[in-house]
Order: sequence, then structure tokens, then C-alpha cells
Amino acid sequence: MEKEITAVILAAGMGTRMKSEIPKVLHKVNGVPMIEQVIRVVKEAGCTSCVTITGYKGDMVREAVGDQTAFAEQKEQLGTGHALMQAAPVLEGKDGYVLVICGDTPLLRSGTIRRLIEACEENHAAAAVLTAVMEDPFGYGRVIRDCEGHMTCIVEQKDGTPEQLAVREINTGTYCFDIRSLLEALPKIGCNNAQGEYYLTDVFGLMIQDGLIVVPVAAEDAEETMGVNSRVQLAAADRVLRLRKAEELMLSGVSIIDPERVYIQQDVTVGQDTVIYPGTILEGRTSVGCGCRIGPDTELDNVVCGDDNHLNRVYAHDCTIGSHNEMGPFVHLRPGTVMHDHIKVGNFVEVKNSDIGDGTKLPHLIYCGDADVGEKVNFGCGTVTVNFDGKKKYRTVVEDHAFIGCNTNLVAPVHIGKRAFTAAGSTITKDVPAEALSVARARQKNIENWVKDDTYKD
Ligand code: UD1
Ligand code: CA
Repeated sequence: MEKEITAVILAAGMGTRMKSEIPKVLHKVNGVPMIEQVIRVVKEAGCTSCVTITGYKGDMVREAVGDQTAFAEQKEQLGTGHALMQAAPVLEGKDGYVLVICGDTPLLRSGTIRRLIEACEENHAAAAVLTAVMEDPFGYGRVIRDCEGHMTCIVEQKDGTPEQLAVREINTGTYCFDIRSLLEALPKIGCNNAQGEYYLTDVFGLMIQDGLIVVPVAAEDAEETMGVNSRVQLAAADRVLRLRKAEELMLSGVSIIDPERVYIQQDVTVGQDTVIYPGTILEGRTSVGCGCRIGPDTELDNVVCGDDNHLNRVYAHDCTIGSHNEMGPFVHLRPGTVMHDHIKVGNFVEVKNSDIGDGTKLPHLIYCGDADVGEKVNFGCGTVTVNFDGKKKYRTVVEDHAFIGCNTNLVAPVHIGKRAFTAAGSTITKDVPAEALSVARARQKNIENWVKDDTYKD
């Protein structure tokens, strides 16, 4: 039987190099806080329970993580070794393995973590360390080996000799420990180093000196192991996750014209045969169905979008778009909007908190707010729902097949009956019965011979 694996996520550090009021692990990569990404991956890798070590702005971290993990507090940030020590009460008495991972390594894949755990188990090791060979190892701890190539210890950037710092094999900060061996070695580490911190990385030297087995496991893809310490690294990590997401979607049957120029966040889903054009941003819990054409320059944030929709330069947030709809260019759909099917929305149209029925057309220059619009309604160019009197908002109801003439103001609350018409330029303040024509503007009067003298003539 496989032993139980507890994950400990180190997330108490301040993240000084981020220069931020927000704790580092809450900064987002491709729309997801780094720590959330790490939690997902350790769970995917098979960890059965998870503890987050919080410290700097711990309330914020605990709130973001919620009930996904347990917590232990590191009151003072005295180093990574001291941070892990805070999880000792949770680990005591257990005889399985503990996976230790930093909250700032969001690119690691679950397969890599699995391999690390397996290496620890298979070698009956006290610890396995995930290492990587970096082009530029600056800032990382270096994996030091003896002349026979056996690992002897890890040396931090600030403590290394020039010879040690020339080593390009680095410590990724991800480890698997046999819990008992860890709990024996951890109290032995000191803080006599350049930073005056309790370095977790010192346990390996101690374990090796005691004759315990420590296996370095090289990551196949060094990029995965990148730690995020600055905003420059945050942008680099974001890009990696974004391109991974695009690749995953393409492999599942989505066409992406230029994967470098679309921004599709982690939790977004897209159906088969949808084509995504450059400049498209799909965020939050957005889902896009099959056979759509999205973009160019379209942003959907928390939008449920059905099948066969063509959205060109649409910005929509917190709303629902049915299927077979044609929208854009330059459309703004605001929260609470529900668009049903076979709708046409043309250029410069804003819809807010409205329900728009099947086959309705809003072709040009329209503001439709707080309205319930039926099926096959036509809104003429320049239609405005006048929904706000300066204090309160009111609803407009337009029933099926109504025809709203160009430049109509529908002063809410107002009700337009089935198949009713409004004359172009009308300001409608009273309900219009079904099948009536409402004319609410001054009748045209022509004044003959208005032009009497030469002043108006050429
Ligand atoms: C650490 C490793 C280094 C490794 C690198 C990989 C140590 C001493 N060094 O360095 O060998 O190459 O990660 O990215 O472990 N944290 C706490 N409490 C603390 C200090 C840190 O919880 O008192 C947490 C941080 O929130 C962070 C993680 O531990 O998530 C790593 O801390 P950080 O300061 O980024 O360590 P590095 O200098 O990157
Ligand atoms: Ca780090």
C-alpha cells in the first residue's frame, strides 16, 4: 500500500523583491494566484493532505486559500527551515512522506512531483531534491557534489564560494522527505550564514553526513522549476502557463490563429472547432462552446457563451450569450445580460442587465439597459432605453415582433406590446398597446417661401 503523502506549501515570506502590498503567493499567473496553482498541482500529484505555512499578511493568504488546505503560522520569517518547522506538529506521529514545495513555483507539473515522490520511495531515501540545470543559476541554491558526483550539500547564492557559484545545477525548492528522517534532522539546523536564517537546504548536508540517502532528481524541463521572486519573473511564468493553456486547447480541437497573441486563463473552457483570433482575452470562469469565431480583439470575462457565435471586438463580462449569435464590431455586454439565440448585435451597441429574445436585432448605435426584450424584435439605429431618472433604475419591456423606429427613446418604466411600432424619433413615455403605431414627436410642418431675401441664397 502506498504511504500517505502530506504536502507542505511554504508561503510565509514577504516577497520583498515583488515590491508589493500583496503577499507574493497571491500574485496571479494566468489568472490564478500562484499558491492556488501550486495547490492544484500537489493535489493532482496525489498528496492526500496539505498544509500551508502562512506569515506575512497571513490573513489574506488564508482567505484566498479557504478550506483547500490546513494552515500553520510562522510568526517571524526566520527562513525556510524555520517555516517547515511550523508544520512539525502536523507531521509528528506520521510515518509517510512529506512533499515540501514553495508557494512561488507555479510552473511545476504534477508528473514531475510524482517522479520526485517515487524517487524518494524507490530509493528508500530520507529525502529527494528536485534539481534543474539553469542557463543562469543566479539567485538559486546550488547543488554541490563531490568528485565522484555524489551530492554533498546545497549552498545558497549569498553563501557560496565563486567555485560553488559556478555550478549550474540548482535546487528548485521542491523536496520529498521521509517524515521521521526530516523531524530528526530539522531541529539540528542553525542560522550561522550570510542571511542569518534557518535554511531548510541545510538539512541535506546534515542528512548526508549522518549517512542517510538523499537523491537529487533532475527535472526534465528546467523551465518548470522556475521560482517567481520579481515581477519580471511573474510575467515570464505567466507567459509559460498561457502558452501551455493555448497548446492544451489546440490539442483538444480549438484553432488559435496566433497563440502568442491570445490570453486564455487557466479555468476557461473552449469547445471544438472554435477559432480564436488575435487580441482575444478569455478570463475568469468563461466557457465558450463549439464552432464559434472569437475575436479579433474580444474580451470575455466570466461569460457563458454557447455554440456557433461570431464575436468580433466584443467586450462582455458576467453575462450569458446563447448560440448562433452575430455580434460586433464594438459591442459592450454588461453584467446581468442574457442573450438568447440567433441575435444580431451590430456596431456601437451597449446592453446591460437585459434579457434579449431569439432572433432579435440590435444592429447599430443602441443603449439597452434594464430591458426585457422578446423574440424577433427590431431596434432601430439610435434606440435608447431611458432607464435612469437620476435616482432609480426602471425596466423597459418590449414584446415579440415589436419594431422600434430609429432614434426612439423608451422612457422606462414602459411597455411596448406585441407587433407594435414606434415612429422614428419618438420619445415614448406611455405604454404602447399590441399592434399599435405610436408617434410621439411633433408632426412635420413645412413653411413655404421661408427664404425671402438674398441672405440665404448663394
Ligand atoms: C529558496 C531556496 C533555494 C532555492 C530556491 C528555489 C532556501 C534557503 N533556499 O531560495 O535553495 O534555489 O528557493 O526557488 O530554502 N518562506 C517562508 N518563510 C520564511 C522564508 C521563506 O515561508 O521565513 C517561503 C516563501 O514564502 C517562499 C519560499 O519559502 O514561498 C521560498 O522563499 P524565498 O525567499 O523565495 O527563497 P529563495 O531565496 O528563492
Ligand atoms: Ca523563491
